[in-house]
Amino acid sequence: MDKLVIHGGQPLEGPLRVSGSKNTALPLMAAAVLADGKTTITNVPNLRDVTTFSKVIQVAGPNVQFDPDAHTVSIDATTVDHPVAPYELVKKMRASFYMLGALLGRCGEAKVSLPGGCAWGPRPVDLHIKGMREFGAEIELDEGYVIARTPKGGLRGGSFRMEPSSVGATVNLLLGAVTAAGPSKIENAAMEPDVVAFGEALKEMGAQISGLGTRTIEIQGVDQLDPVDVRNTPDRIELGTYMLMALTAGAPGASIDVTHGNHHHLGHAFKEAVDATGADVLYDDDTVTLTPPETPEPVSIQTATYPGFPTDLQAQWTVYLALCDGTATVTDTIYDDRFKHVPELQRLGIDVAVKGNTATVRGGEPIKGAKVMSTDLRASVSLVMAGMVADGTTDVLRVYHLDRGYEDLEQKLQDAGIDIHREEYDEFAEPELER
Ligand code: EPZ
Repeated sequence: MDKLVIHGGQPLEGPLRVSGSKNTALPLMAAAVLADGKTTITNVPNLRDVTTFSKVIQVAGPNVQFDPDAHTVSIDATTVDHPVAPYELVKKMRASFYMLGALLGRCGEAKVSLPGGCAWGPRPVDLHIKGMREFGAEIELDEGYVIARTPKGGLRGGSFRMEPSSVGATVNLLLGAVTAAGPSKIENAAMEPDVVAFGEALKEMGAQISGLGTRTIEIQGVDQLDPVDVRNTPDRIELGTYMLMALTAGAPGASIDVTHGNHHHLGHAFKEAVDATGADVLYDDDTVTLTPPETPEPVSIQTATYPGFPTDLQAQWTVYLALCDGTATVTDTIYDDRFKHVPELQRLGIDVAVKGNTATVRGGEPIKGAKVMSTDLRASVSLVMAGMVADGTTDVLRVYHLDRGYEDLEQKLQDAGIDIHREEYDEFAEPELER
């Protein structure tokens, strides 16, 4: 297994470059399954999740070529003859569940493993299933699999209101509805930029969709979709993460550039929170220039769906708060149990406590390096951030979580002035204990 070893205390100097979005690339790949022919997606990050999803799609029949150096995925979906997404792959990555909509839309049938829980708790897929039933699918659950069929002529379309609003269910229902026999409506739909970019790509492929980026999406089914060449969007969560790294580990008064991002995808709440820290932030085309303040302000945040503060940035915000003099809170309203990073941050000396869905951080305590364990993607990047400002050495173990969503992180950070490297270790080796 790999770990990241960080010798803390070096200021982050930048620049940091944002890669293509993981959470847009995956639905774009699923969309390619709908088209009879070869779709090419560029600006795809070289991440474990992309490799996993390539395998998931290949199982169903398409030929998937991922060139990680060219950041390009080509999916030739001329043949889709095995509409199955097996447990062995779905358990590695929940977004594999997008195959439900893709396979129902393309083949009229699908056998897709239920994803089960995730590292920080239960993450249901009931809305995906209820919505698909509303659109005409017959669905039964058998031995951990969702077995779905459409009537003759495919899904008929329908109307579904989701509560709460769900990114994944919106993607899945769009995948199913774009080739349904009749019109469909998704209410309380996700407005996240990832969903909008995916919906725009479907339109390029010939789908008839209106209302993307609003709470009501309407779809008029078409007979077939055509393959396209599409460019993936920059990763908004990676952009936000690097801005918070700049804020936390940059030298006060020294500006840091984060390049190749799309700041319009950050949402107003995140930008307002960053402004309130006292940082100087310049948003210019694809570059954000951030200058950390002398005295960072403790700013409380609460996550919400887009354009609210992203849940995928709350762990990183918690680390920022540890540097401020004063107390502030982080409340997650999307996932009320997404706090597995907190005990690990406590190991580094951070004064943080969780009650319900709120973490309270009393900043200003010295942060000291230690061995800490990654538990999920965003938790692990928060540990790296804390290691960057800790006194001494921090080992972030089980870094495979981080490799799911941050391309070349240690190389990018090394180039930006951070003392960080990767090492292999044996998690099950007998410990050599001093006495
Ligand atoms: C997407 O997950 C992202 N993943 C997550 O990013 C992100 O945290 C999340 O959206 C919220 O923004 C991908 O895009 C691949 P949801 P998703 O369905 O689609 C509840 C990362 O770190 N819900 O929008 O699975 C759910 O429990 C990952 O990159 C139901 O109740 O999230 C949650 O409270 C982690 N029933 C809320 O909706 C359902 O059927 C929003 O979840 C579906 C969801």
